[in-house]
Amino acid sequence: MLQTYKRYYQFLWKYKWQMSLFTVFLVALSITESVYPYFFKLFVDAIPLKDPVLLLTILLSYVGIRLLKLAFDLATYFSGDSALLATARDIRVAVFKKIQDLDFAYHLTKSTGSMISAIKRGDLAVFNFFHMVNINLVRALISFTVLLVLFAQLKLEIAGLMLCSMILNSIFAYFLIKRNVAARVKFNDSEDEVSDVIVDNLINFETVKFFAKERAEYTRLGKTFVPWMKALWGYANSFRAIDIVIGVTGNASLLAVLYFGLQYLLRGQISTGEYIMILGFVDSFYGRFFDLVFQMRDVAKNNADLQSYFNVFNSDTLVKDPQKPVEVETVEGEIVFDNVNFSYPEGKGDAIKDLTFKIEPGESVALVGRSGAGKTTITKLLMRFYDPVSGAILIDGIDIRTMTKSNLRSFMGIVPQEPVLFNESIAYNIGYGAGTTDITEIAYAAKMANLDEFIKDLPEGYDTKVGERGVRLSGGQKQRLAIARMILSNPDIIIFDEATSQLDSQSEKLIQDAFWKVSKNKTTLIIAHRLSSITKADRIIVMDNGQIAEMGTHKALLAKEGLYAKFWKLQTVG
Ligand SMILES: Nc1ncnc2c1ncn2[C@@H]1O[C@H](COP(=O)(O)OP(=O)(O)OP(=O)(O)O)[C@@H](O)[C@H]1O
Ligand SMILES: [Mg+2]
Repeated sequence: MLQTYKRYYQFLWKYKWQMSLFTVFLVALSITESVYPYFFKLFVDAIPLKDPVLLLTILLSYVGIRLLKLAFDLATYFSGDSALLATARDIRVAVFKKIQDLDFAYHLTKSTGSMISAIKRGDLAVFNFFHMVNINLVRALISFTVLLVLFAQLKLEIAGLMLCSMILNSIFAYFLIKRNVAARVKFNDSEDEVSDVIVDNLINFETVKFFAKERAEYTRLGKTFVPWMKALWGYANSFRAIDIVIGVTGNASLLAVLYFGLQYLLRGQISTGEYIMILGFVDSFYGRFFDLVFQMRDVAKNNADLQSYFNVFNSDTLVKDPQKPVEVETVEGEIVFDNVNFSYPEGKGDAIKDLTFKIEPGESVALVGRSGAGKTTITKLLMRFYDPVSGAILIDGIDIRTMTKSNLRSFMGIVPQEPVLFNESIAYNIGYGAGTTDITEIAYAAKMANLDEFIKDLPEGYDTKVGERGVRLSGGQKQRLAIARMILSNPDIIIFDEATSQLDSQSEKLIQDAFWKVSKNKTTLIIAHRLSSITKADRIIVMDNGQIAEMGTHKALLAKEGLYAKFWKLQTVG
């Protein structure tokens, strides 16, 4: 809880000037508005004197004070908002940045639906929290202090009584609000579950339609509403509990103070004006106190929301950039895996075992093997999405852990197994890696990847949007687009993961030609199931169960009559 506040104020107090002004105006505002009832006393006590000038002066001063309060009010909100709006932006950007910087592994475990709903709630809480804690809470506390001081001068007993009742009420409020927060956290969790199901459904619309599972999806959503209703009911009732307890004890203390005041009045120990003042003060005091308690519930709710918003800051990156990274400009492209062992954090068993191999600069090496053998894992380790459990990976003799991740990845161009695209134009997606919008360059890359014919036929050509994740393109088109994107980023090391698996024989041949052209003199790692596409590779590594089973040229491996020869026979006969 404290950590949440600390973080919040760290963001807020970056705007020192605005916040300092805000604080000054807020204090001035609270003091001015607290003294209103004092004028009632002056006025009532002055009535018997029948002095029109005196009465008018009191009245005008009262109006003057009210106008002053209005001015402070405006100044408070102006200065406060100027800090608040910028802070809300800063927090959102910081959360976004943190999410960007988190590991590949984090993104595999996160759930988009929960995350979006947490971010939305958190965003709102940033504003609410400011108005409740920074404005209303401070305002109420200051007016309490002013009232207590004024009462203490009038009758110490009344001040003591008010203080006691405030402490008593605060203790009750503390426990009730604590319960309320717990209920809120529970409700948030079930709210996130609902949102998860909705987002998951939106992402998987294709699968739902394939199997005509619309009804099952309603049921799936309906099920998440069972705990949701229960949590919301509990949350709503925790409010009622606060209303009842504070309503009873609060009003009882109000009555007590007024009763004692009346005793003093009847015994002639205070004037009528002073009693009117007590009435005014007590009324605004308890009014504000009730407000405060009710707002504290919201503060609690917003606190819970802020906490889950800030939660992302507590996630730690597993794959860290080094303190003093070596800065590498370009690489020759020598890759060494030195006794690498690796297992996925949530996986069972080792995905990679004692892997040792060396790829010379400019060499093309194919990785083949059964599904799940660890081929894609090798590329993930090479790009430092994960660090090996033991052993080292070196590029040009430099341990990749000594470079920054962005430095390392800038040398590599990857065509992933399942390319995912931005819901933007084709040109945008092709130019993404290189960060270019130059249409000549983009068109060149598209031509190299054999994608230009397809683009020419589109009504909007390069400006055609590809749909979410690229749903409006075929599998083969997406892969060719990924190839064009890679070509444009002009990498030193090329990684193809099943790049040609979804292409028909004719486009495969064109792609192959383009690919061998691009990869000339560049270190290339090709993962392929279709062995005919990699016979040209300088060397073939046959993976089995996270280990190297065989290694050699196509010819040598065929002659060996091992695993590779077996795969080859299966594919060529088929
Ligand atoms: N994120 C992950 N968490 C846990 N286990 C994983 C993860 N990714 C892959 N694995 C497991 O690691 C092993 C190697 O997976 P990998 O993706 O490297 O296989 P592959 O050789 O590329 O297979 P394919 O040819 O089917 O693409 C598999 O057993 C897989 O289930
Ligand atoms: Mg794979």
